[in-house]
Amino acid sequence: IDQKSFSAPLLSWFADQARDLPWRRNYDPYQVWISEVMLQQTQMDRVLGYFQRWIARFPDVQALASAREDAILASWEGLGYYTRARNLHRAARYVVERLGGELPQEHASWLALPGVGPYTAAAVCAIAFNQPHAVVDANVGRVFARVFDLDTPVKERTARDFIAEHALRLTPPGQARHFSQALMELGALVCLPRRPRCSFCPLHDLCEARRLDIVLERPVPAKA
Ligand code: ADE
Repeated sequence: IDQKSFSAPLLSWFADQARDLPWRRNYDPYQVWISEVMLQQTQMDRVLGYFQRWIARFPDVQALASAREDAILASWEGLGYYTRARNLHRAARYVVERLGGELPQEHASWLALPGVGPYTAAAVCAIAFNQPHAVVDANVGRVFARVFDLDTPVKERTARDFIAEHALRLTPPGQARHFSQALMELGALVCLPRRPRCSFCPLHDLCEARRLDIVLERPVPAKA
């Protein structure tokens, strides 16, 4: 599949169907970072209210760094996995104390922050800074497993490498921000695990699992 035939329908679908999410208003790197950390283990509908209150209370990295931990944990109350909140606080202090209050702009520098792994670093760099990175969450893994009819679990090394390589190759120059989010959005709204809405899918004509009528058999479940 070539870059244009994959990305053109996907990007025009995204331009049309993208949800109006708060961090998509301005792509402020701080807001993109907070949203990605919240979305790691929490559903979108639940995240939205928490995100708005968080940004109202801690509008930037300086505010977060200087906040008290109990105020931060109170704002996280109900989201679970409180290590995420503690790491956000530690990371904010690191940015203020060691990086002059400027969030990193490079993938490798993001990895130095507590709680930031390769996925979060790639997501922030692609979405906030429009840098070409493969942003592969579970939704994106499912899209690729179906379009390319992958017969190994997406968590396995060969599949992960395949997906990352193709996600990068299919990203049009200068479009990483939209392309990466379009893939996530497609997985969240159309390429659903149990009830995929294939008739609304911009990649319908390219999808190998669809052609073989085995969409529900992809992705292959991880070994127990
Ligand atoms: N899940 C995680 N990050 C997301 C994003 N930027 N857009 C949609 N879903 C997401």
